[in-house]
Amino acid sequence: MIDREEIVIYESQTGFTARYALWIAEKLECPFIKYKEASAPALRHYRTLIFGGWLNAGKIQGLDWLRKNIKEFDEQNIILYCTGATPADKQDLEKLAQDNLTEGLEGLPLFYLPGGINPEGLGGFSRFLIKMIARSYKKTNPAQAQALIEGCDMTHPDLVDSLVKLVKAKTK
Ligand SMILES: Cc1cc2nc3c(=O)[nH]c(=O)nc-3n(C[C@H](O)[C@H](O)[C@H](O)COP(=O)(O)O)c2cc1C
Repeated sequence: MIDREEIVIYESQTGFTARYALWIAEKLECPFIKYKEASAPALRHYRTLIFGGWLNAGKIQGLDWLRKNIKEFDEQNIILYCTGATPADKQDLEKLAQDNLTEGLEGLPLFYLPGGINPEGLGGFSRFLIKMIARSYKKTNPAQAQALIEGCDMTHPDLVDSLVKLVKAKTK
């Protein structure tokens, strides 16, 4: 039974995706929870599920959980967002959709919200991978390489506004 409006469910390692979850929740005045704490039957009470995850080698983290449970959400609106360390104008949203919106998730709305890199929040292996990626950028995009190594933050609360607008349009 649907008796609640929206909820944000997210996966975040170093805080950027969580920050956007908070901003979306503030603007919609709705709850937000980590996907690992979410129970699919409880989410069936909400009209709209907003799911956010961070990009790891082009894959939106946490989306496997959504794929596994997608059949439970046949009455819900589902809107997705992902964060990454790529500036918004350099991110290939079409490819992201193609690679991630599979196995029941085809056609869902997907927003890219630029996150950042928080070197202190990364484990040793992730830091190693980031260094490798940065090295590959060194010649073609030195600014991006430096941002990856030193850390960067591209988040802004206004960037959730298009997503919030779509949620409001769906729940009017
Ligand atoms: C191992 C690893 C792989 C990543 N792969 C990508 C990627 O493919 N594309 C991208 O834009 N950002 C990538 N990033 C950057 C993260 O998606 C970015 O830092 C994100 O905002 C982190 O979100 P979080 O703070 O919620 O964990 C990667 C980061 C790590 C650590």
